[in-house]
Amino acid sequence: MKSEIFFMEHAISLAKNGTYTASPNPLVGCVITEHNKILSEGYHFKTGLDHAEIIALKKLKKKVNKNMTMFINLEPCCHYGKTAPCAEAIIKSGIKNIYISILDPNPLVKGKGVKHLRSNGVSVKIGLCKDKARSLNKGYISRMKKNIPYVTAKQALSIDSKISLLGKNKWISSKESRRDVQYLRAESCAILVGAKTVINDNPMLDVRLSKKDLDIELEIRQPIRIVLDTNLKLNINKYKIFNGIEKKIVFNSLSSLYNNKKNIDFVKIRKYKDGLNIGSILKILAEKYEINNLMVEPGSKLLTTLIGKNFIDELVLYHCPIYIGKLGLNFININNKAFNNQSIAIDSVKKFSNDVRITYKLTR
Ligand SMILES: NC(=O)c1ccc[n+]([C@@H]2O[C@H](COP(=O)([O-])OP(=O)(O)OC[C@H]3O[C@@H](n4cnc5c(N)ncnc54)[C@H](OP(=O)(O)O)[C@@H]3O)[C@@H](O)[C@H]2O)c1
Repeated sequence: MKSEIFFMEHAISLAKNGTYTASPNPLVGCVITEHNKILSEGYHFKTGLDHAEIIALKKLKKKVNKNMTMFINLEPCCHYGKTAPCAEAIIKSGIKNIYISILDPNPLVKGKGVKHLRSNGVSVKIGLCKDKARSLNKGYISRMKKNIPYVTAKQALSIDSKISLLGKNKWISSKESRRDVQYLRAESCAILVGAKTVINDNPMLDVRLSKKDLDIELEIRQPIRIVLDTNLKLNINKYKIFNGIEKKIVFNSLSSLYNNKKNIDFVKIRKYKDGLNIGSILKILAEKYEINNLMVEPGSKLLTTLIGKNFIDELVLYHCPIYIGKLGLNFININNKAFNNQSIAIDSVKKFSNDVRITYKLTR
């Protein structure tokens, strides 16, 4: 006999199908059961398309009866957005039993969807698999609750904790680790770097995986590329980050303007002693650009600032068996007060060829 947990976990695994496409919307999966059997299921794939509940209801071949139960990892919406409210569709369908993992943190929905369902005779139980559901939508939850994206920083380190040989552009990590980074990029709505990394490495910051690699049918979402360039010294015709039609944002201290031809937004930000005001930047990324998951590929300076200001949620370090020596750049400025009042826990460890990837979770 399958448990309610089994069905909710299945809804969560369905929701994951939207990982590379659903943003800025949350990842949502839905399962409809009867007598312990799955009758129908759905997940949200892309903004503007049907929500998970609507797909599951449309795919349901049988007339709804009182033995049917719906499992959804997020509270159904109750407002008109790009699509009609799901709570209303559920009420109309006649389904009377629902399990929801967590309330939708979006202030337009939070609790209102559940209230509407309950006041129309639907029994709603909340909290099943809530930790998994929170982890699944950590980016969306961060944007809705804290007004900033969920921030993941990635670096490749030598065994003496250096991230590059001063002035030289040379890989530290293996081909397998670099391919893994491509998946991290694909999961991210945007990728941010400091000007120094653009000058030294000239990265493209794009996703170079196929639809087959990601197991999706729609076009791959290329993350927005972001650079911190305080004095606008980067030549937009020289560096690869500015190539292509994808959106780019240059945060700087001098001016706000738009380059339509290259699809670049220049956004003026206040400058402090240690650089641009990162708190304002994160707020703009959440509010104006609807970024749920931000990946940062920082050099030493940017990582030091981000950690010092407690802005990193997850730190992904590839530990690589090469020695760089004293000419290398430390991964963080060890003279600065970093890792301030933070607790650091290892979330996962995985080997890629000769490298080891450790994912750390940082909490305040
Ligand atoms: N191994 C890895 O995984 C990895 C990853 C990334 C980078 N890297 C290496 O790191 C090296 C560059 O590191 P880096 O420490 O010199 O520079 P960085 O961290 O890449 O960029 C720092 C620059 O960003 C700009 N910036 C603006 N506001 C800032 C703020 N609030 N905090 C921090 N920076 C801000 C500043 O330049 P402006 O004043 O010009 O705006 C600053 O000099 C490169 O050589 C690259 O190869 C390695």
